[in-house]
Amino acid sequence: MSTTDDGPWWRGAVIYQVYPRSFADGNGDGVGDIDGIRARLSHLKDLGVDAIWMSPWYPSPMADAGYDVADFRDIDPVFGTLAGAEALITEAHVLGIRMIVDIVPNHISSEHPWFKAALASPDAPERDYFWFRPGKGANGDEMPTDWRGEFGGTTWTRTTNPDGTPGDWYLHLFTPQQPDLNWDHPDVRAEFEDILRFWFDRGVDGIRIDSAALLLKDPSLPEVLEENPHPFHDLDGVHEVYRAWRRVADAYGGDRALIGEVWMPEVERFANYLRPDELHAAFNFDFLGCAWDPRLMRECIDRTLHAHAAVGAPPTWVLSNHDVTRHVTRYGRADTTFSFENNLDGTPVDLELGTRRARAAALLSLSLPGATYVYQGDELGLWENENIPHEQFQDPMWRRRGHSRDGCRVPLPWTGDEPPFGFSAANPWLPQPLEWKDRTVQAQTGDPNSMLELYRSAIRLRRAEPGLHQSAMTWLPIGDEAIAYTRGGAFACVVNMSGAPIELPRFQTCLLASGPLDGVWLPPDTAVWLRLP
Ligand code: NOJ
Repeated sequence: MSTTDDGPWWRGAVIYQVYPRSFADGNGDGVGDIDGIRARLSHLKDLGVDAIWMSPWYPSPMADAGYDVADFRDIDPVFGTLAGAEALITEAHVLGIRMIVDIVPNHISSEHPWFKAALASPDAPERDYFWFRPGKGANGDEMPTDWRGEFGGTTWTRTTNPDGTPGDWYLHLFTPQQPDLNWDHPDVRAEFEDILRFWFDRGVDGIRIDSAALLLKDPSLPEVLEENPHPFHDLDGVHEVYRAWRRVADAYGGDRALIGEVWMPEVERFANYLRPDELHAAFNFDFLGCAWDPRLMRECIDRTLHAHAAVGAPPTWVLSNHDVTRHVTRYGRADTTFSFENNLDGTPVDLELGTRRARAAALLSLSLPGATYVYQGDELGLWENENIPHEQFQDPMWRRRGHSRDGCRVPLPWTGDEPPFGFSAANPWLPQPLEWKDRTVQAQTGDPNSMLELYRSAIRLRRAEPGLHQSAMTWLPIGDEAIAYTRGGAFACVVNMSGAPIELPRFQTCLLASGPLDGVWLPPDTAVWLRLP
């Protein structure tokens, strides 16, 4: 397996996120599965990615699309079997592709045996693995706190005692089907370290850590007040958990990676997770949410480089994932930022503009120093399906927050002229836009102007270009409308984020362009990779 010149694989990898229910369906039930992924692994080989991050595939009641795990050591029958997962890991390795699995430590499913035991009796020892508390008020019928949930809504659900009387409440920062674990309990810590070993023993190369900053709670359960430390976000004690996980990972020889999902506006606090004895990397949501604006983008990149350099960690570049509006859609709106607080669903979208910018963003994100993430369908230029009938929404966020993440989770189009586009023999679990007939893998393969061929060329060049293996980058002064930088002296990337053409610096060869150039002029919303003289 290839390792980049600038260190272990996770420092410079292109990591492709597979969302298993929407990648490819092998058994014809309309839901993607492991056999479907195995049958289509050659797509990832042809794309040239270094690793796959697999969203959760464990047994789950699917209250939150698998982020409600009932058993971390098996596979949900909808996706296949543990033997199938092991075969996939082996087959990916044969193709030189590493595997990262998704672990969800903040909460488990309410169907997990621990929670079922905890509910069965107020005296069960498993009770202490969670946050059970009596209610406030004379009858205990008021919630222990007024904390707001991560999906909106309240965070406590009242239980019923075995004798039918109303009982204690339990904490869930997400849905009631996702009770939060008590990370102050040593059994919880030991269990997850064992789960890491279970997957490392099966050859996985990395772990993606869900909601990594939320694990610890202030046991005095204070209300959230501006002037006080937050009671459950980014508590200092969480770092001890990741130091222990790092020891587990390091015991496997040093190239198993821990990658955190850390949503954190304060970059210094964010970087704490990436200290040398903690996580190897974390997703860059600052970049994902940044507007298509040269000044803001430059500042964001600088902030990222600075924060990561301080702890010696590799930056990461993320444009989309299964939780956010696809960037073809985001970049086609008047407001190109993303945040869960600012719901832009249904605001006008210019998909042609969004696609042009997404092409430029691909060259940007694949030429910055560090690791780059590709969410399945980015390489096909898929947009958010904003036309899913509401009654088909499955995302629990929809009811709690009025925004559904289903629009970015629509099954991939592979072949043919109409849905299901080779995804399945049956109707896909979410509807695919008819217009995706031009965005199938089949339709784009061999078309030099397609998004797919752009990604393939870019990833190929990324491997070959010596400059792209250097950890440093230097800004090129090119005016306020564009961002431009060199890597290793001979390579440059220029992205025009303005509405007018800009003149390119003197170059020897144009290695790759996201759209046609006009001589030495770079058109609006276009990016180019250059070999400098
Ligand atoms: C983050 C995951 O990416 C998201 O899909 C999930 O709903 C929450 N964490 C809760 O696990």
